[in-house]
Amino acid sequence: MSFDRRIKIAPSILSADFADFGREIQAIEAQGADWVHIDVMDGHFVPNITFGPPAVAAFRKHVKTVMDVHIMIAPVDPFIDAFAKAGADILTAHIEAGPHIHRSLQAIRAAGMKAGVALNPATPASAVAHLLDIADLVCVMTVNPGFGGQKFIDMSTKVRELRAMIGDRPVHIEIDGGIDPTTAPFMAAAGADVLVAGSAVFRGGSVDSPAPYGENIRAIRAAAQAALA
Ligand code: DX5
Ligand code: ZN
Repeated sequence: MSFDRRIKIAPSILSADFADFGREIQAIEAQGADWVHIDVMDGHFVPNITFGPPAVAAFRKHVKTVMDVHIMIAPVDPFIDAFAKAGADILTAHIEAGPHIHRSLQAIRAAGMKAGVALNPATPASAVAHLLDIADLVCVMTVNPGFGGQKFIDMSTKVRELRAMIGDRPVHIEIDGGIDPTTAPFMAAAGADVLVAGSAVFRGGSVDSPAPYGENIRAIRAAAQAALA
């Protein structure tokens, strides 16, 4: 995985058909997804449950791009090796999930993955000031984590602050929640390069009729790129 700041669209399979993940992943990649975003929820850190490492391992066989795994779980550390074995390229844990995010990021890298740190809407950019040399990605949540299809919360000030803090470091800024062609431009202009989108990618399409996935991905990408022009 080489580093660049070009706009990347990462569809969240939280909005896919849960009975058909393999074909859904193939469909979004064929339709232009740059990364595949996988939302793991534990019913404890967030008020919803999705799936765990065995399911993520099954997804791996279908992901040809980058498997971007966002774990909304607490604790984190006991599961890091399981997600490494499942084949995650990037593992992003929440700073709010426990007192030792620094140790978690070190352990994620030691297990051979890129390390991401996610920030809930209430958490300030300054919380990652001492993590930027051991992280590969900062995920700024633009909804409270737990569910797809929620209303976007504007975090452009936080993204701008982070972009300045990151400077020349090879650290991605990812935004997650409520991203569509109307919200993506503000976040791209503020400095985000990875745009996660669930409902705005999957709406209108299906595995048997995936063309809308491509139209949706292109619309989000075009809106974000226009904001950088
Ligand atoms: C929220 C998840 C997001 C979510 C995005 O807890 O982390 O990845 O699925 O979905 P939309 O784009 O529908 O807000
Ligand atoms: Zn996510």
